[in-house]
Amino acid sequence: MLTITVDAREPDRRTLRPAAEALLAGRLVAFPTETVYGLGALALDPRSAGRIFEAKGRPPDDPLIVHVLPDWDLGLVFAEVTEPIRRLADEHWPGALTIVGPKHPSVPDIVTSGLPTVAVRAPSHPVAVALLELVGVPVAAPSANRFSYVSPTTADHVASDLGDVIDVLVDGGPTPIGIESTIVRVNGEHLTLLRPGSVVIAGIGSDTHAPSSLSPGRLEVHYSPSTPTRALAARSPLRSPGPGVFIGYDDSIPTPDGWQVVSLGDRRDLQSVAHRLYEVLRTADALRVPVMVVEFTGVDGLGAALDDRIHRAAGGQSAY
Ligand code: TXA
Ligand code: MG
Repeated sequence: MLTITVDAREPDRRTLRPAAEALLAGRLVAFPTETVYGLGALALDPRSAGRIFEAKGRPPDDPLIVHVLPDWDLGLVFAEVTEPIRRLADEHWPGALTIVGPKHPSVPDIVTSGLPTVAVRAPSHPVAVALLELVGVPVAAPSANRFSYVSPTTADHVASDLGDVIDVLVDGGPTPIGIESTIVRVNGEHLTLLRPGSVVIAGIGSDTHAPSSLSPGRLEVHYSPSTPTRALAARSPLRSPGPGVFIGYDDSIPTPDGWQVVSLGDRRDLQSVAHRLYEVLRTADALRVPVMVVEFTGVDGLGAALDDRIHRAAGGQSAY
């Protein structure tokens, strides 16, 4: 694996060129986005995209997100660029919003797991933007973690999960947002939230527990640490006996003896909580304690997105 280190704000194009060349040759390249690291391959080439599934151990029924630049012709990936798709893209791109809409025939079935829809996002991270500019064609990229494990927010996370199966790792430092993009499905005029994220759109119905035919990746085991993990209601006392790791906030209710306590910070500063969450989950997971308990933020907006990830990390199981 070749590691290329670049400046996150002003990545040097010449330094990035080998990463673009590897992608164009059909190889796998992990790179930072503003949300989490992605594991990239050419989206319109089924053999390249297929390598993503092999590398991650990802089942073929979990479709990929296609990354583009906001000024590219969206008619390359969507069968029809409808007015609601246009509006969402104009308002939120580049940024942490993935739009699911009718798929163009040029998008291979392997990318969409045979669905008639495709998920598309224009990232804002300067490294992802520069890479897309150099490659010039859409890049499919799921989060660059082993299937069902916690998403990677640093190059070290990617290297430890996938170092032996990727060709190039672009290290642009920690990802600023720290949780995956918001996913919205556009069906005619109708918008549905499939995954909450940092982009919060008022007034759309949530379908984050959609049947698997609508969003096959929405498994409860997603984002799971190896250590048995439980979620605790916001500001609740933890009564169960340790030992274990309790992951809470600066104002959490103190735990009984036997718990190692880690704070995600101030729950009024959710951006910094999001930025730290996966790093803290991975670090706590490495301690190999019998159990880890993560407290919900109990807050709306970005807090709801964080609580969704905490719920999934715990596989839906609660602590008391
Ligand atoms: O922030 C992000 O979105 C990151 C960065 C790398 O862009 N990517 C990411 O990808 O989180 P991934 O593969 O870990 O999650 C993609 C989710 C999956 O849950 C998948 O099921 C859903 O998007 N998805 C993809 N295509 C879909 C479709 N056509 N319909 C519904 N859901 C879809
Ligand atoms: Mg993922």
